[in-house]
Amino acid sequence: MASSLEEIFPNCPDGLDYKSLEILPEHVAVIMDGNGRWAKAKGVPRIKGHSAGVSSFKEIVRVAGELGIGYLSVYAFSTENWKRSKEEVEGIMRLAVKAVKNELEELHSNNVKVRMLGDKSRLPKATRAAFEEAEETTKNNSGLHLQYAVNYGGRDEILRAVKEYANKCSVNPALLEEDLSEEGFSDLLYTHGMPDPDLLIRTSGEFRISNFLLWQIAYSEIYVTDTLWPDFDRYEYLRALLDFQSRDRRFGGR
Ligand code: IPE
Ligand code: IPE
Ligand code: MG
Repeated sequence: MASSLEEIFPNCPDGLDYKSLEILPEHVAVIMDGNGRWAKAKGVPRIKGHSAGVSSFKEIVRVAGELGIGYLSVYAFSTENWKRSKEEVEGIMRLAVKAVKNELEELHSNNVKVRMLGDKSRLPKATRAAFEEAEETTKNNSGLHLQYAVNYGGRDEILRAVKEYANKCSVNPALLEEDLSEEGFSDLLYTHGMPDPDLLIRTSGEFRISNFLLWQIAYSEIYVTDTLWPDFDRYEYLRALLDFQSRDRRFGGR
């Protein structure tokens, strides 16, 4: 681990035993949900919920790095989220650019490697440019792999892979003779080269996947908490990690 658990969890609430944290997931995926309800409960505009959510995101990235977790994938904006009001969508994009720009230096100095998951072509130019800069700047880093899913949809990702494969086969029909394997198919996804998530966290109490990493979560352990994303801090993260290490993962075996 990069830092001691005592340093990472200095004000651990009673009853939460950080010392027993022994087994870490290699890849954690997070559906960061509940920003709107957080704002509603506080009587503030939804966008305030999204900006409070950015603080939780920063904290979780920091803790993942401190713990030495290999991969963290966060769901920031889905292919379905365009259905929201223009004002909210623009606000979220603005915040995403700001967060990436403000954090880039620190991420880079902490050896974090940033990768975007999703279809960048529909993103506003400034958003796309900021993300590409982050990917480019950090591409040779070897610490935490941080995947930021924006305009991401699991079905869209699978469909793209199928189309790409069909195209390759039409150019090179000999490919059809080779049996496409699960590994071969995984290589066509945005997440190529990464292990599947071991732990999938969803905040705000919704028991659904909402189109996140459909192929990759076949055997992920799912953890749902009622905590709204802006209230999700390192101790909530610890709760999820402790829960994960108590799971009996069988992968279909005995
Ligand atoms: C998650 O919070 C952020 C995005 C989906 C962009 P929501 O905005 O979905 O918050 P709720 O679910 O309405 O509370
Ligand atoms: C999932 O949350 C997408 C993100 C967190 C980016 P949503 O709020 O969009 O999901 P639903 O509508 O509750 O399924
Ligand atoms: Mg939501």
